[in-house]
Amino acid sequence: MELQDVFVLYEDRLKQVEQKIRELFENQIPSIPEIGSYILASGGKRVRPLFHLISADMSGYKGTADIAIAGIIETIHTASLLHDDVVDMADIRRGNPAANSVWGNQIVVLVGDFLYSNALRNAVMQRNQSIMEALSLATTRMTEGELLQLNRVGDPNITEKEYHDIISAKTGALIAAACRTGAILGGLVNQQVDALTSFGLKTGVVFQMADDILDYRADEKELGKRLCKDLEEGKITLPLLYLFKAARQKEVSRVKQILSNGTLLEHLPEVLHLLKKYNAIETSFEKACLLLQEAHEELSGFPDSREKEAILALSSYSLHREK
Ligand code: IPE
Ligand code: IPE
Ligand code: MG
Ligand code: MG
Repeated sequence: MELQDVFVLYEDRLKQVEQKIRELFENQIPSIPEIGSYILASGGKRVRPLFHLISADMSGYKGTADIAIAGIIETIHTASLLHDDVVDMADIRRGNPAANSVWGNQIVVLVGDFLYSNALRNAVMQRNQSIMEALSLATTRMTEGELLQLNRVGDPNITEKEYHDIISAKTGALIAAACRTGAILGGLVNQQVDALTSFGLKTGVVFQMADDILDYRADEKELGKRLCKDLEEGKITLPLLYLFKAARQKEVSRVKQILSNGTLLEHLPEVLHLLKKYNAIETSFEKACLLLQEAHEELSGFPDSREKEAILALSSYSLHREK
């Protein structure tokens, strides 16, 4: 199944999810709906709500709570982007000026806080303890991941394991929760709920690896974010880690020195040249491919179905995407 087919299948329900997201932005304080509609209008791929909806379908769920939970999940994601752009001092998001560069950091941080808490307040209204646990765990993990990352900015000695831990938390956790909550709604047995959770976690890690690769090689317009932003921020991601593994000692020391001096931006061409010379981007992509396979194997115990095909297609898209 192709990704377009998945979007066609879920078109109507994704529209209902949009409505739910809009509700979560409703408030008498004008900055909340104002920033809300700005972000909503700028689009976004909506992969997290889709993971939830498909996971619920695949688990045999027949009710309508999945629409609300999908909206809650996308709202948590939106809150994390608002905060992330403040932390990363990003000026472009989804092809538009980032909310922090329009409204300033103060309002954006508070609207992000509002969205997190309002999303979780709505989740409480579902009166399902396991779902509440999954969503609150995800939001906690996401913040841990961002903090862990911040602590390691510009540190050339970060290991691949640490990188993996950071991205599992900041990005894997929410996609894991999107899949897990779908499985919980469907009333699957624990083992199957856990399999869908692991599938989501691994897919989420792959999703972030793809993001980190796209940061180097995407078409800037298509991506809607500035390229080489991670290098500029001193964020060491998979391509740099593989460069450190493959390059000659002298070259590694040179890049690490540049990192420590915080002068990456002015030495950008040199670093990009080395990444190319040592195929670091391709090696990162291959690593992500392997992990994608592992993610898909988590679902081997589920019978073939249209829904399974759809969720596997969405998972593959998490890696093979241009934006
Ligand atoms: C961006 O997420 C942040 C990451 C976790 C990499 P998306 O790539 O899903 O962003 P939108 O919602 O489609 O804009
Ligand atoms: C993902 O990290 C951030 C979140 C999980 C909120 P990035 O900092 O790489 O995301 P982008 O590139 O700004 O979208
Ligand atoms: Mg960022
Ligand atoms: Mg990024």
